[in-house]
Amino acid sequence: MKVLLISGPNLNILGQRQPEIYGSQTLADIEDLVGKRAEEWGVTIRPYQSNHEGAIIDFIQQERSADGLIINPGALSHYGYSLRDALEAFPGGKMEVHLSNVHAREEFRHHLVTAPIMDGVVAGLGWRGYLAALDALVPMLQERNGRPSESEDAQPDS
Ligand code: DQA
Repeated sequence: MKVLLISGPNLNILGQRQPEIYGSQTLADIEDLVGKRAEEWGVTIRPYQSNHEGAIIDFIQQERSADGLIINPGALSHYGYSLRDALEAFPGGKMEVHLSNVHAREEFRHHLVTAPIMDGVVAGLGWRGYLAALDALVPMLQERNGRPSESEDAQPDS
């Protein structure tokens, strides 16, 4: 099973960027953590980051055979209609992650144009939100592929 891990604008500078809001982990740290958890699930992660909406759309189109994706679209979540359309056309499972609780911040961050077409949205859990998204996504994809999770509280092998 293959899951894309997509990061939008300004997430390449995580660690230096407002650590009091986004945490001190770099994007490489987060990709590493998600990659390790994915290994426990027997899932391959394909990370990708771009500061450009069109490049992210190209990537999603090229990788449309992937089983699922986890995306933090950064500020594109608030106004990126082309990205939303690309996500809507992606046939696999889709989870949106925000490190910060966007609903508790400036008003422009309360509206998420991408969220309504996602299978789930996690916000405000910092880097742990990515693991929460993966732990929800994998059993969901297994069910969709006709391999029901053994129980509702399915766990990765450790
Ligand atoms: C973010 C929240 C967005 O509002 C912001 O523009 C980001 C990061 C988050 O992870 O909390 O770039 O998506």
